[in-house]
Amino acid sequence: MGPRKLVMLLVMAVIICGIHNADGWRRRRRRRRSCPVINCTVGGWSTWTPCSAPCGNAGTQSRSRPITMQAQCGGSCPHALQVNRPCNRDGCNGHGTPLSTSCQCNPGWTGTCCQNDINECAANNGECTHTCHNTAGSYTCSCNPGYNLSNGKSCIDIDECLDNSNVCGTLQCSNTPGSYICSCHVGYIQDGNSCYDIDECYNNSHGCAQMCENTEGSYNCICSTGYQLAVDGHSCTEI
Ligand SMILES: *[C@@H]1O[C@H](CO)[C@@H](O)[C@H](O)[C@H]1NC(C)=O
Ligand SMILES: *[C@@H]1O[C@H](CO)[C@@H](O)[C@H](O)[C@H]1NC(C)=O
Ligand SMILES: *[C@@H]1O[C@H](CO)[C@@H](O)[C@H](O)[C@H]1NC(C)=O
Repeated sequence: MGPRKLVMLLVMAVIICGIHNADGWRRRRRRRRSCPVINCTVGGWSTWTPCSAPCGNAGTQSRSRPITMQAQCGGSCPHALQVNRPCNRDGCNGHGTPLSTSCQCNPGWTGTCCQNDINECAANNGECTHTCHNTAGSYTCSCNPGYNLSNGKSCIDIDECLDNSNVCGTLQCSNTPGSYICSCHVGYIQDGNSCYDIDECYNNSHGCAQMCENTEGSYNCICSTGYQLAVDGHSCTEI
């Protein structure tokens, strides 16, 4: 190795050493002159605020957290301090359509969030002739025995004698409001479900002037020879 190369090596060593030293000096100098970079610190989240609407499609709520220590020496504060979220969205209890902060209720429901059933029976008995039954979101009408429901509201008397001609068996059927009566035809007397011919001649209760002849359901007055029955059906007049 010649002296020139030796000198060059020496010079390079000095330069490298100098750069290294200068670097170290600069680092030490910066550390001495500046404070440590510290980002801010934040506290825990608050509870969520109450929702801005009980139902609908626009309710929101938020929560926040405080800065517990400010950033220092050029530090930053890269933390969200408040967040919002949707709440009580829809919430029409399945009985309406959400508006912004309330609901448009389906028929039969009421309340801000359609939470209340309307009692249709409270007004005018729901227009039912007999009995009104409130149901969830609606109502029904029913009738007393012996009546048929018509148009869902009106009660129409059933004519049992017409609907079922056998309802009284051999007896005479009379319709009544809500029911019917089985009775014997005139001239017959009822015993249970049977009718027996009344013997009007038995004690002459119908007052024939002379003779009496019983018939099914009635009787005839008869006059002796030389007499004829008068127009009243009872008296006998001489011929
Ligand atoms: C400060 O926050 C920034 C940005 O989020 C981040 O890059 C850096 O590492 C943080 N510094 C410290 C000391 O926490
Ligand atoms: C009443 O309803 C019954 C059963 O639905 C029916 O058979 C009958 O014809 C009805 N009567 C009247 C008067 O509407
Ligand atoms: C005849 O008998 C019937 C019962 O069979 C009775 O109701 C009626 O009062 C009697 N009449 C007379 C006049 O006795």
